[in-house]
Amino acid sequence: MIKWGVAAGTHDGSLAVVKGNDILFASHSERYSRIKNDAHLDQEMIDEALSFGHPDIIYWYEDPYKKALRKLYAGQPNKWMNPKKYLTQWGIHNVSIKYGNHHESHAAAGYSTSNFSNAAVLVIDAIGEFTTTSISLYKNKRGNNYSSSCLFRRSYPWSLGLFYSAITDRVGLKPNEDEYILMGMAAYGRPRWVYDMRKLLSSGYNFHKGCRHFFPDADEFDLAASAQVVYEEELIKLLKLTRSLTGEKNLVLMGGCALNCLANRHTHDYFNNVWIMPNPGDAGSSIGAIAAAEKQKLNWKTPYLGENIEGKYPVKNAIEELLKNKIVGVASGRAEFGPRALGNRSLLADPTGQEMKDAVNKIKKRQEFRPFAPVILEEDVHKYFDVERGFTSPYMQYIVRAKEPTKYPAIVHRDGSSRVQTVNKLQHEGLWRLLNQYKKHTGTPMLLNTSLNIKGEPMVNTRKDADNFQAKYNIKVV
Ligand SMILES: [Fe+2]
Repeated sequence: MIKWGVAAGTHDGSLAVVKGNDILFASHSERYSRIKNDAHLDQEMIDEALSFGHPDIIYWYEDPYKKALRKLYAGQPNKWMNPKKYLTQWGIHNVSIKYGNHHESHAAAGYSTSNFSNAAVLVIDAIGEFTTTSISLYKNKRGNNYSSSCLFRRSYPWSLGLFYSAITDRVGLKPNEDEYILMGMAAYGRPRWVYDMRKLLSSGYNFHKGCRHFFPDADEFDLAASAQVVYEEELIKLLKLTRSLTGEKNLVLMGGCALNCLANRHTHDYFNNVWIMPNPGDAGSSIGAIAAAEKQKLNWKTPYLGENIEGKYPVKNAIEELLKNKIVGVASGRAEFGPRALGNRSLLADPTGQEMKDAVNKIKKRQEFRPFAPVILEEDVHKYFDVERGFTSPYMQYIVRAKEPTKYPAIVHRDGSSRVQTVNKLQHEGLWRLLNQYKKHTGTPMLLNTSLNIKGEPMVNTRKDADNFQAKYNIKVV
């Protein structure tokens, strides 16, 4: 039986295909339509999904009735979306469509892809239907079956996600898209506005209305630093509550706020084991919608679930190019499902020296303050970063301290931290071999790793996109 999960209509549309408990395909619409954060489905993506078989059932990631009601309550322009009609537009007829629940889809995406039997699941996001924060207990039953119960929820208009997005908008960035830039700005500011922000949040102010006229004359970096402090304070409160309500030592953290890798470091203070699905935002809910409806765990093996560029991982060509020009694009295998390039649609570069940071920033046309992330052999991570031997971060979800920040300015933030990706042989043999080869030639087991995309465009998806990148920037994509 072929099951589809669909998350579409708001931002970052996605589609997942599951057969039995195996995830056969999952991708973001934007990768096919080439429209950043495309909210809607895309015909090419649908055709790719159909190559795995016609769906027998489709699970929609939220409840369109409840969402319409909330929009009415919020005074938002209420464009009622009928998923059945919507899917008909894309040529999908005569398939049963079942509606889910926004937070349950988030929670199930996380739990069903984790390796935990039992877990506490904390979901923090901006808004779906009414719930904006939820704590649930998930328990494995016989086989892949599980049961879940929601123990706590907070509802609209109180929302940590809307708070963080409103500050993103206040500093002149794009809400629902640029929150990670606000997080990066935090290291450059002073948290002078914490008291005022705390007060606003606890007063129940509806951040959905924005706060463009608040904090007049405030420095934008100070606002970013303040928002980060307030978010982390609230996250810590929620982590404590999650632990006490569930008694669990395993945590699954989901929702768009789980992308705040700076704050995620606190999770290990309250839980022994933590799983954050590499696509914890709404796009990941295409997988979650299926798991939630069927109350079934899924066989999560890899985040490389999208479009396939055939061929062996180009270790030899990439090394040649790195040794010659210090920079190379890699477009190989199946594309990452999630916002981070994890080696299959990556721009890799020498992590030493300031000039490489400037060179890559020029290509990406990013704000100068934004650092790049390193990808490093798992067995060497403790030599370069302040972590214990055995530390893993396969999906770039945690910030760690660099031991020699001045030696690697391209991959270290102003506060001396790095958002690290660790690699072992089992996780990605090609990338692991590439890093080993690079270490053999240079002594460094690490590379700068950023997403392979033309400024303002989604990540490269197909070989044609890779060729466009190569032609535009004159950087070889192997
Ligand atoms: Fe969400």
